[in-house]
Order: sequence, then structure tokens, then C-alpha cells
Amino acid sequence: MSQNIIQHTIQFVQEQLADDSSGHDWYHIQRVWHNAQTIHDKEQKGNRLVVELAALLHDLADEKLFNEIEGLNRIQYFLEGEGIAENIIQHVLEVIQSISYRKGDLPLSTEGKIVQDADRLDAIGAIGIARAFAYGGHNGRKLYDPHIPPKEYIDHKADEKEKSPTINHFYEKLLRLQDLMKTETGRKLAQSRHEFMIDYLEQFYSEINDESIELE
Ligand code: ADP
Ligand code: NI
Repeated sequence: MSQNIIQHTIQFVQEQLADDSSGHDWYHIQRVWHNAQTIHDKEQKGNRLVVELAALLHDLADEKLFNEIEGLNRIQYFLEGEGIAENIIQHVLEVIQSISYRKGDLPLSTEGKIVQDADRLDAIGAIGIARAFAYGGHNGRKLYDPHIPPKEYIDHKADEKEKSPTINHFYEKLLRLQDLMKTETGRKLAQSRHEFMIDYLEQFYSEINDESIELE
């Protein structure tokens, strides 16, 4: 039964994200789904179905890709069609709405913590570096501009207009994620990915010979 629901959900997600080139394609969803299962297996807490459904559906109401309200309605309609209990549906919708970085650190259920960590793992490390530059290009951002330093604090609305270079995004968000992990397992998995980004930035600046930026 639940296997069938997962298969239908995969199809539903693939239909909507098939052509995405902003770093939110199906394989992003598949990695987040996989990360979420790994974290859930280790932590042994939270409802498995909520974790899997929220991981699979988490980007279908992301305002960068879709209208949030319409996206949430579409997800609700789909889950109702699958005959899923109303309390599970509400929990999935709540997780999807509360895990985004740009919404700040909202209080999360156990399932929310797992899915947020799973999504954030995919924003760091080698894959996170690839996604950041892919998103930056898609979004009209430069790779690097020595005249635009990273900001201490990000106002997402202003950032959309100013389009600061992608390399700044590492200091503004990606290097912060390790400390923001909510589960023990997520934090452990984040470590080597975090270190890889530090090494990457060191190499990046050594190649362009700019000593002006200090790494932590
Ligand atoms: P969330 O959904 O948690 O708010 P995002 O959707 O903002 O996360 O991020 C999705 C991907 O796009 C991540 O890999 C992230 O690093 C990348 N990204 C988001 N904003 C920027 C940016 N300003 N520059 C480069 N990459 C970005
Ligand atoms: Ni995501």
C-alpha cells in the first residue's frame, strides 16, 4: 500500500520537475529522499511515511519554482486522491512549509528536522557546490566579483534584486549550514561536505590569487 503511494508520488514529482535546470530537478529530490531515509534509519524517530512524502514533495511549493499556495493545494489534492489520512496530509504540508532556509529557523517536528537536514545536505559538499553555480547561472549571477564582498546578514528580497555573485553564497549561507543541522546524523553527514567546501574555497582563491578573503 505505502509502496504504491511512494511510486505514485515519484511520478507526480517527476511530471512537475522534469525540465528544471535551477538545481531542483528530480535527482535533487531523489538525493533528498535518500538522505531523509538514511537519517530516519539512524535516528529511529518520526513517522516514516511523513518523512518520505515530505522529502519527495518538498520543492513543489517552493516559491522560487511555483506559486506557494497553488503548490500546497496541488499537493493536498494529490494526497487526498491517494486516500491518505488527513492528519498525515496536514503533517506533510506543515513540514513542506516550514523547512525553507529563507523562512528562518521555524520550530520543527521530528519529521521536519529530518527532511530539512536531508535538503540541506544536498546544498553542501561537492553536489552543493555544483548546485550553487548552476542556480547562480540560472538566476543571472556572476561566479565572482572582487568588488562585491559577502554580507553578514541576508535580506532575501534585496538579494534577488542585487544578484550578489555565487561565491558569496558560500559565506552567506552554505558554510553556516553545518551548525544549523537539527539531527545528530545530519550533523555527522555534514562534516566531510563542509570540509570539502573549505578546501574548495581555498583552492578557488589560490587560483585567482586573492588573499583578501579570510577563511574560517
Ligand atoms: P531552500 O529551499 O532551503 O530555501 P534554496 O531553494 O534557496 O534552499 O536553495 C536551493 C539551491 O540553490 C541550493 O543548492 C542553494 O545553494 C542554491 N542557491 C540558492 N540561492 C542561491 C544564491 N543566491 N546563489 C547561488 N546559489 C543559490
Ligand atoms: Ni530542495
